[in-house]
This record gives sequence, structure tokens and C-alpha cells, in this order.
Amino acid sequence: MKKILFVASEAHPLIKTGGLADVAGSLPKALAELGQDIRILLPNYQAISSRGDIRYLCSLRVDNRNINLLETRIAGTDVLAWLIDYPAFFNYPGNPYLDANGEAWPNNDERFALFCKVAVEVAMNRIKQDWQPDIVHCNDWQTGLVPALLSLEDNRPASVFTLHNLAYQGVFPPESVGTLNIPSQLWQPEGLEFHQMLSFMKGGLVYADALTTVSPTYAQEIQTETYGCGLEGLLSYRHDKLIGILNGIDNDDWNPTTDDYLAANYSADQLAAQKTNKAALQQQMGLPVDDSIPVFGLISRLVEQKGIDLVIDCLPAALTMPMQFILLGAGDKSFESQLQNLAQQYPDKIAITLGYNEALAHQIEAGADVFLMPSRFEPCGLNQMYSQRYGTLPIVRKTGGLADTVVDAIPQNLANQTATGLVFSEASSGALLETIKRAITLYSLPNVWENMQQQAMQKDFSWQRSATQYLEVYGQISPNP
Ligand code: ADP
Ligand code: GLC
Repeated sequence: MKKILFVASEAHPLIKTGGLADVAGSLPKALAELGQDIRILLPNYQAISSRGDIRYLCSLRVDNRNINLLETRIAGTDVLAWLIDYPAFFNYPGNPYLDANGEAWPNNDERFALFCKVAVEVAMNRIKQDWQPDIVHCNDWQTGLVPALLSLEDNRPASVFTLHNLAYQGVFPPESVGTLNIPSQLWQPEGLEFHQMLSFMKGGLVYADALTTVSPTYAQEIQTETYGCGLEGLLSYRHDKLIGILNGIDNDDWNPTTDDYLAANYSADQLAAQKTNKAALQQQMGLPVDDSIPVFGLISRLVEQKGIDLVIDCLPAALTMPMQFILLGAGDKSFESQLQNLAQQYPDKIAITLGYNEALAHQIEAGADVFLMPSRFEPCGLNQMYSQRYGTLPIVRKTGGLADTVVDAIPQNLANQTATGLVFSEASSGALLETIKRAITLYSLPNVWENMQQQAMQKDFSWQRSATQYLEVYGQISPNP
């Protein structure tokens, strides 16, 4: 049994902006089920602090600041979450990274440096809780200083750094080095320095004892110039410490047979009930209720990564075919307004909901026929897995975790009954349009379509396999001063 401190800037259901929260909410649960003693550490954002079930744990002092640690539980599990209560940094509306206008908090360097320094105090058992972790498992740039600062400690636990998205690196001006009191040994090109800037991400990539990312294909891609975001050299250099472990999904939260958000529950052998969800969704979205028209769904942060521009470009041509398009998302203001304009032009075919809506996300997963995920890059991606579990066949671009989880409906895979979706390669609206056409043709063949749905719904995306792989990583590493 290992004691694991899991450090992440968001965790579902406490706080979520994307897939990192899903992983931080469900991987610790899976590890606990495998007998590990695991605690999650994250900031006490305003959205969390309004919850009732939180108790005071202890106080500590970091950088001349008085901080409280609070304790709660991840709902439906025994996993403890420790919350860093420092209202001057975290008690605001908006999301963990952006203010209400969508701008990065101007003091993100200080906010997340404090987060990392508290993590080091907990990791070194200096908070008088008699709990000494063996492993500190960090996630993404917000936690990047933890492996770096830990590397300076004697008798430290081993560190793992999981990269969920290389595109967000936490890079700040060199002046931050002084403001944050970064020890001078770390401020060098082989350390936290990245083109004369301070990179939190490099703290994880350089100093962690093991590196993981969230799919085998992304682990390879990030060692190339196309996907490496300038860090491909470092990642290639450390390739023997880097492994891709596919994310799992929370089979309790995302289960069409029990999902409370749905108009009707269903399973692979009662697919007829899925149609009830489709009709309810069409009605709720103000679209014609008609089962013969395939509904294409998309749920996403509206950012370039997700290939939203490809969708916007190909929609006018795609809509000459029988189809409806339902999107739920928020993000880039220009994507939001282009999508709204399209919805005004095609009110009977397109329905756009801007914002974050957990219930609607489940209803789209269940009510759509096809799920669109044409990402330019995708470290893992969760919605294509939720979609398969809900029998909503995904169209994905062949990259990262999408390539690792969806089997294309080419004749050979249809014949041997392994196809679970549609896959295309070129990041162009033309290639996406061709794949949408292919999906419409397959949808018109009910037996073929239903067969694919059955295959998709039976796939095992549970956390157990991946959690076991993380345990293997934990077992192989030791602190390497
Ligand atoms: P990423 O982490 O890059 O955003 P993932 O596919 O890993 O992509 O995870 C996205 C998660 O966020 C999924 O659980 C998805 O359902 C959810 N999500 C994204 N946008 C919204 C939204 N507007 N409303 C509700 N859930 C959303
Ligand atoms: C990131 C990636 C996404 C991945 C998620 C969880 O946000 O963009 O592909 O699924 O992290 O690991």
C-alpha cells in the first residue's frame, strides 16, 4: 500500500473546467479501490467554499502567509480532499484560471506557486498530520514547481508528473523568479528557464522522477516538433522516464443505464429507449423531432485545439444533407459568435448552447446519434469515450487519445465487428465533411449502425486497467537526488 498525495488544480465534482477535473476526481477513487491511501490537494476556490461538508484541518505558514488547510471528501467516495484556504488568492468568482471576463488572473504565478509550496509542505510531512506520502503525483503546469522544489529536499518522496496538455505551460516573465522566491539553483536553462522566461511546466518535465501523459499516441507525438510546443527536445531526452497511460472514465457518473439526467435509461440490449432521449433533446433544443434525421452533437471548450474552425467551415455544406447539429460549449468569443450566427441562419438545423451545463452534456451524449471531436491535437479526450459508452458514435481526428480509443468504420473493421466510430486524418474541413457524409450513409443502414453501437457500448474504458498502470509506475520509482 502506498501513500499518495495527488496534486491537481481541479477535481470533479468539487470544481471543473475540463477533463483534468474528471481525471482528478476518478483516478484517486480507482487507486483507493486498489487499496492505496490517497489524498487530493487543491486550492479552496470560491465555488468550492460554499459547500457544507468542509472541516478545518490545520494551519501553516508559507512565504510569510497564514494558510489554513481544510478537509472534505470527494462525493460518493472515501477519498479525502485537502483544500488550501487562502482567500486573498482563491476566494473569487470566475474559474480557477480566468476571471469572469475570460482573462487569466494577473497573479496566476503567485497563486499557483503558493499552491506548489503548500504541496511541498504536505509532501514533507511538515503539517503535523502524521501522514508522510511515498508518492507525490502532480498534474499539469499549475503543479510544475512541486517536483522542482522537492528536488532540493532531503528524504523526500518520489514525484510523478502527468502531462494533460502541453499547450498550456504556465510561462511567466523572469521578474516572477524574484517575486516567487525561486531558489537560484532552479533558475537555469536546464531547469525552470524557457527562453529567458519562467516555465512552471518545465519544473515537472525536468525534475519529476517519472513522467506520464494521458495516451500512448500523445506520448509519442509530443516528442515531435509538430506537437511538442517547443519542449520536444526535453521530452525526447527524458523519453525513458515518459509513458503514456490512457485515461479511464468514471463508469458510475457516465452510465446510460442509471444516468439521472436522462429522459430514459437504456443499455446495449435496449437501444430503443435511446430514441426517447433523442426526441427529448430535439424538443428541448427547439429542433424538429424526427428520428430519421441523424443528430450530430459536440460538447467542448471552444478553443483552437478542438478543431472548432473545421466544424464552422464545413457546416454550410454538411447542412445540405439531412442532419441536425447540437453544440454545448464556451470559450473563444470569436468561435462563440460565428456559431451563433450559423444557428440564426439555420434555426431548424442548428442549436447552440453557450456556457457550462453538466446535465445538458449528459443529455447530448445520450440523445445525439453522432459525436463530433475533430481535434487538431488531443492528449486523451474523454467525450469520445463517454460517447461510445452511450452508443453515440464518435467522429474523431486520428490524433492522441482519439486515435487510441476509436476504431474506424472501414469495411474490414465493419466485417470483423470492431468498428466503434469514424476516424479521419487530415486536419481540414474537407476531410471532416467527407467523414460526416460517411456517417450519414452508415446511419441510413440501421443494422450496420446498431451493430457499431453494440460494439462501442461494450468497450471497457474503466479506470481499473489504467490505475494499475499508475501503480506500476509508483512501484518503479524512487527519489533520485
Ligand atoms: P479537455 O480537458 O481538453 O477540455 P476532455 O475531453 O478531456 O477535454 O474533457 C472535457 C470534459 O469537460 C468532459 O467531461 C466534457 O463533458 C466537459 N465539458 C466541456 N465543455 C463542457 C460544457 N460546456 N458543459 C459541460 N461539460 C463540458
Ligand atoms: C486535457 C486534454 C484532454 C485530456 C484531459 C484529461 O485537458 O486536453 O485531452 O483528456 O486533459 O487528461
